[in-house]
Amino acid sequence: MADGGTAGIAARRWPENGAARIPNWVYTDPDIFARELERIFAGPSWLYACLEAEIPNPGDFKRSRLGAREVVAVRDKDGTINVLVNRCAHRSMQFCQANRGSVKEFTCPYHQWTYDLGGRLLGLPFRRGFKGKGGMPEDFRPEERGLERLAVTTRNGVVFASFAQPNETLETYLGPKMLGYFDRVFSGRKLEVLGYYRQRIPSNWKLMMENIKDPYHAGLLHVFLITFGLFRFDQNSSTEMDETGRHGVLVSRRSDDKADDAIARLPQYRDKLTLTDPRLIDPVREFPGEPTVVMQTLWPNLIVQQQSNAMAMRQIVPLDAGNFDLVWTVFGYADDPPEMRQRRLRQANLFGPAGLVSIDDSEAMLLSQAGIAAGKDDADGIVEMGGRGIEDHHHMLTENAIRGFYHHYRSVMGL
Ligand SMILES: [Fe+2]
Repeated sequence: MADGGTAGIAARRWPENGAARIPNWVYTDPDIFARELERIFAGPSWLYACLEAEIPNPGDFKRSRLGAREVVAVRDKDGTINVLVNRCAHRSMQFCQANRGSVKEFTCPYHQWTYDLGGRLLGLPFRRGFKGKGGMPEDFRPEERGLERLAVTTRNGVVFASFAQPNETLETYLGPKMLGYFDRVFSGRKLEVLGYYRQRIPSNWKLMMENIKDPYHAGLLHVFLITFGLFRFDQNSSTEMDETGRHGVLVSRRSDDKADDAIARLPQYRDKLTLTDPRLIDPVREFPGEPTVVMQTLWPNLIVQQQSNAMAMRQIVPLDAGNFDLVWTVFGYADDPPEMRQRRLRQANLFGPAGLVSIDDSEAMLLSQAGIAAGKDDADGIVEMGGRGIEDHHHMLTENAIRGFYHHYRSVMGL
């Protein structure tokens, strides 16, 4: 693939003040989007592919999309996991259409070329022709015509893959601080998938990353979080990053304390509001340490959600500059007692396309993209809350993690 629209991008000028300003064109320019697909999603990034719990047995597979390309993650006979590009070596047909399933081998429906679970071409009909006529040339080598395979790595039940072999392990890629937060949820305890949501959001994929890196909005936009004390500015919290700025976490601690006067004056705080069924939020502490919320953003396509007892992987699938899919995998632990499983499922109502909290974010992203697309190409967004630096902060009135993301983004994108 040629580097997307190099001449067009070369004329672009990032605004002054570095990552504290974000130009409109990064959300709308198709050349920028093409370069993102190539350098970020097809580049040396570890992309979240699936959970091992989704494909427990040999032959189990899960189809998904990493950047622009569909892949199939499949458990091989020896228990290892392969991630194969969903493209038949013959005529490029996407041979797999099911989201999940179990197979002995993959057969492309078009001409029935058949591959094993490692993507090796096992055979094709009429390779030698029929009654001496037709068939493939003598020098055709099936062993040279397998499916394209990605580099794969796993950690504690989570599968990552890459189109270009990254020059660092997943552990180095995450860095010690982010790895610590990752292992907090993925400690090696066996996972259980509880369900899925899928939604298409008419905005640029980066607005999703920004949203989760943005504690400033969480304490203002979300009536539900503020009113029921799940995320408030008066709670102990931090926003932290890895050394590159590309990954981040928002960490917060729920308190039952009465809201600070400054919070109580917010129009979104409704002290008279109560829940008919208070079990919708009955969080119980299950992780060591103080935090009750850890929202982790891992470059470039994953959000790990741990809000109270509601956990989900949110996979970002960019479609074009103005649209992305968000694929949610809601999970718990295989050894959860029934009441904990029920609690997680009830709390899951806060999230997803129609979630009592998440629905606000989808709307905010849609309207942000609309404002960006209608605005001047060279107008810019201000990301100066908490200063212009990209160091960690131990409060929520900051946009430092968004700045960290764009600091790294600019270096990868050459902007
Ligand atoms: Fe939000």
